[in-house]
Order: sequence, then structure tokens, then C-alpha cells
Amino acid sequence: MNAKLNRRQFHAHCAAFGLSLPGMAALGSSAAAAAPTLHSVKLAGVTVPAVGQGAWHLGQGRHPADVEAAALRTGLSLGMTLIDTSGNYGAGRSEQFLSRILAGDRSRTYLVSKVEADEVTGDGIARACDASLARLSTGYLDLYLLHAPVPAAQLAGVVAQFEQLRAAGKIRAWGVSNFNTALMQALFQVPGGSRCATNQVYYSLRGRGIEQDLLPWCAQHGMPVMAYSPLGGDHNLLTSDPVLMRIGAAHGCSAAAVALAWTIRSGKVIAIPESGSPEHTRQNAAALSLTLAPQQLQALDAAYR
Ligand SMILES: NC(=O)c1ccc[n+]([C@@H]2O[C@H](COP(=O)([O-])OP(=O)(O)OC[C@H]3O[C@@H](n4cnc5c(N)ncnc54)[C@H](OP(=O)(O)O)[C@@H]3O)[C@@H](O)[C@H]2O)c1
Repeated sequence: MNAKLNRRQFHAHCAAFGLSLPGMAALGSSAAAAAPTLHSVKLAGVTVPAVGQGAWHLGQGRHPADVEAAALRTGLSLGMTLIDTSGNYGAGRSEQFLSRILAGDRSRTYLVSKVEADEVTGDGIARACDASLARLSTGYLDLYLLHAPVPAAQLAGVVAQFEQLRAAGKIRAWGVSNFNTALMQALFQVPGGSRCATNQVYYSLRGRGIEQDLLPWCAQHGMPVMAYSPLGGDHNLLTSDPVLMRIGAAHGCSAAAVALAWTIRSGKVIAIPESGSPEHTRQNAAALSLTLAPQQLQALDAAYR
């Protein structure tokens, strides 16, 4: 699925790409009319960008706070308006940091946060949600995820609590994370379980396990998957991979953009790379308008079985 860039976003894109989009230099003032399409995905009835921004380590001193804020704002201006955090990232510091960024941009941001598996008993999900809303200084989450699996016997209670939060307007949709196919099947057995909007799981060229059965299962049930660590994660980064770099050179973009374009290639996956660097975020945003050729997909398939 694709979405047109508006004029402002398109000019920001062009500036960010240093006019590296094919044929751009020749387009001159008619460029806005030929704005590229951005890859997007339908998530619980809402169109979201196929590449968002992860926030696990943000606001915790990995980069200077102003640099991380600039990175997030760069991503927002280039269309990466989905932001993923969790109540437990940096013991709440990721959410607190994001409240700074969201202050002027909440309505155009699709905000995702998470509740922990050990918080689900009693009214634990509601309490965790209130704490996240307070840290984020917002009245609602677009999506609230259960961060990790719970025993199947607890799923009905989890769904009931999520649905209460939805009815109260504190969350607009809910989903899960790190669920395997068997647990997804169990979830769909409980009342309201099929309202699950997504499953956020590890997926990258270096970790294709979900292609075995989870990805097809989700596709069959019309549910997009959210891919975390899509660049391979901190200790397994794909960003210097020679195959990706060669394909990137052909498109005038980075290896990271190619890795992300590969991750979202089906139109059913949302990738949430994290970056606290504006330059890296610019590179990642290029994936929003990058489509890999069939022979490039085949080359990646051969390199990363
Ligand atoms: N649900 C879960 O259990 C779960 C688990 C893990 C992660 N997540 C979510 O997924 C998000 C992303 O996952 P992740 O952080 O594990 O892995 P990732 O996004 O694959 O990798 C992040 C690393 O890549 C670097 N990077 C980003 N863009 C780059 C570029 N263009 N060139 C070179 N390096 C680049 C970042 O450093 P710089 O900051 O220097 O750019 C950072 O070190 C997290 O923030 C979190 O929101 C969820």
C-alpha cells in the first residue's frame, strides 16, 4: 500500500536525500507533481508508514538528548510518524523523552507503547497504561501491546482489560509482541482475541524465522506484522553488509535503507528501526520510497537464506 507525500514532506525528502532520487535533478519545479509514493500499511483501520521509529534506548544518554530529538524530528518530517516505545524502556525514560517530541506533534504521530507480561493480573494493564500516558503527557495511545507472552490461560483476562481501555478511549487499538503461531491461535480462541491489531516480532534479513509459519498465519488473518530490530539489532547490524551496500549504491541509498526496504517488501510488515542520529534516520527514511527489483530481492534471498 502507498501514500502520496504532501508538498512539504516531499521537499523535506528531497533535501534529505540530497536530490538522490532517480531523475530528480531533471524534474525542476514540477517535482512536487511527481512526488514519490511512500510505502504504508493498514493497521487496525489506520494507514501508517511502513517504516516507523523505535525508541528503546532513546532519552538514556546513548547520544546527546538534542541529537536524539533532532533524529526523531527528522524522521517525523520525512514521514516516519509511527513511534514505538514501552513503559519499561529505560525504566520509563524513553516515554518521558518522547513527551518532549510529541508536545507539538501528537496528532500526526501514531504512538505505540507496551505493558509487561508480569503486569497483567488484576487491573495491572490499566495501571501500567495510566503510568505510560502520564510519562508521555498524552491522553491516548494509538496502539498498546503486550510486550511478551503470558500463559494461554491468562489471555482472556488480557483481552478483556485491553478492550476496557479501548472503550474508555485510552487506547485506540491493542496487540501483542513476541507471540509464536501457537499462541496467536490461542489468542484468537478467546472472546475478542481476533481484535488483535498486530504482533511485534524480531524480523530482519538476519532473522527470517517468522517466514516459516507466523508471517503466513498473520497474512491469512489480515494482520500486519511489526518487525523489530529490522537492521539486525545492535550486535548484529546489517549496515556494512557488502550485498546490501552494492544494491544501495544502485539506488543511491544506504545498506540500511535496502535492509528496511527488504523487510517491508510484502506490504504487510511495518519496520521500526531505531536511530538517535539524524543522518542515520535520513538514510532509514529512504526505505519509505524504495522498491527493490526482483533480481535484487533474489540476490538478498540467496545471501540470507
Ligand atoms: N517488542 C520487543 O520485544 C522489542 C525488542 C527489541 C526492539 N524493539 C523495538 O524495535 C526498535 C528497533 O530495534 P533495535 O534497536 O533492537 O534494532 P535496530 O533498529 O535493528 O538497530 C538499532 C541500531 O542500528 C543503528 N542504526 C540505525 N540506523 C542506522 C543506519 N542508517 N546506519 C547505521 N546504523 C544505524 C542504531 O545506532 P544509531 O542510534 O547510532 O543510529 C542502533 O545501534 C527498538 O527501538 C524498539 O522500539 C522491540
